[in-house]
Amino acid sequence: MIAAITTLTPDQPVTQRPPLSSRGRAAPASPIRRLMPWADEARARGVHVHHLNIGQPDLPTPQVMLEAYRAFSERTLAYSPSQGLADYRQALAAYYNEIGLGAPAPLNADQIMVTVGGSEALLFAFAAICDVGDDLLVPEPYYTNYGGFAHLLGVQIRPALTRAEDGFALDPAALAERIGPRTRALVLPSPGNPTGAVVDAATLEALGRLCVERGIFLIVDEVYRDFVYDGTERSPSVLEIAGLEQCAVMVDSVSKRYSACGARVGCLVTRNEELYGAALRFAQARLSPPTVDQRAAMAALQTPRAWIESAVADYRERRDVLVAGLRSIPGVSCPMPAGAFYFMADLPVEDTEDFCIFMLRRFNLGGETVMLAPGEGFYASEGRGRGQVRVAYVLETGKLRRCVEILRAGLDAYSQR
Ligand SMILES: Cc1ncc(COP(=O)(O)O)c(C=O)c1O
Repeated sequence: MIAAITTLTPDQPVTQRPPLSSRGRAAPASPIRRLMPWADEARARGVHVHHLNIGQPDLPTPQVMLEAYRAFSERTLAYSPSQGLADYRQALAAYYNEIGLGAPAPLNADQIMVTVGGSEALLFAFAAICDVGDDLLVPEPYYTNYGGFAHLLGVQIRPALTRAEDGFALDPAALAERIGPRTRALVLPSPGNPTGAVVDAATLEALGRLCVERGIFLIVDEVYRDFVYDGTERSPSVLEIAGLEQCAVMVDSVSKRYSACGARVGCLVTRNEELYGAALRFAQARLSPPTVDQRAAMAALQTPRAWIESAVADYRERRDVLVAGLRSIPGVSCPMPAGAFYFMADLPVEDTEDFCIFMLRRFNLGGETVMLAPGEGFYASEGRGRGQVRVAYVLETGKLRRCVEILRAGLDAYSQR
């Protein structure tokens, strides 16, 4: 037996490659990361690449959270319960009730499941709700990983177009028309990635009524809840809407709120026990969310409000600088985003992917260039978004001003190439 195994030596050529699944072969590459090889190539040539393509916050993680990592002293790094540490879930319930999300009925720990980032909460929610061949109604442009998770589950994205000229606002009547026989949920982020649009309370309520009437779930991805720039403390939450107890699913994460993307802690919150039970069975199959990170996430709940306020003030200033700067470039337009730290901008080019590649491969201004995410990947509808880019404002204002200059020069060079 052993002899048979050792007949394969490391330098022996692989003559036969076992086939992948069609799902594996067809998995879409993230449009946010797809151009990375050209960014690496630019860096290898000594060009500094400013990343406006990715929502990796640059603000320092709160000290209370970092200290919790340093303070971890248990002898064994054990699994946690599949639904997350009980004291963390209790602390989260208290936090949500305190900020007003328990308005119709107070939330409790048994309605909260800790997940590996908001990403896993989305995956569990989609998997608990949809069968293969079902679809999810998603306003587009949308967060591309919704498409990635749907693909993994054999589920289709059913896009409902929103437009820059309307500030990417949602129209419940138009969404109602897009619901099909196999639509199982309406999924949306608010504040939005990639649009920065915030769904107001009245619209959210109308969407809730629609979902109840049509017997579908309403999954609201609220990972940017604190990042609103209109002077309010947070965006409206789906959990606040009375009468929506059986339909509402809320997805949350520590990644953006605490500038802690690497912690990989999020949660799924629902008052629907059946849905919670299904998600829990998925959670049991993957055993546990990360233990130390939950401890740190629990400590993060002690982050002073002033920390969040200062982060929001920073992002607001960045937004203002970048939007004003880009609008000053001939042919560039974008709506003023109300939340999160992204927006979609229209550029005066036919194919933004080609322009983004040009910026990485052929252009630099004094040894610097800018990386953007081409808009097409944020749409499921063929041909949409080709003139748009998604911009993330996660750099200091000085760097953002420089990015504007580089883009101005880049667009000029591109038009003359
Ligand atoms: C809208 C939205 N939802 C969910 C996520 C997932 O974040 P995480 O898995 O880090 O919590 C992101 C990350 O960028 C996002 O932008």
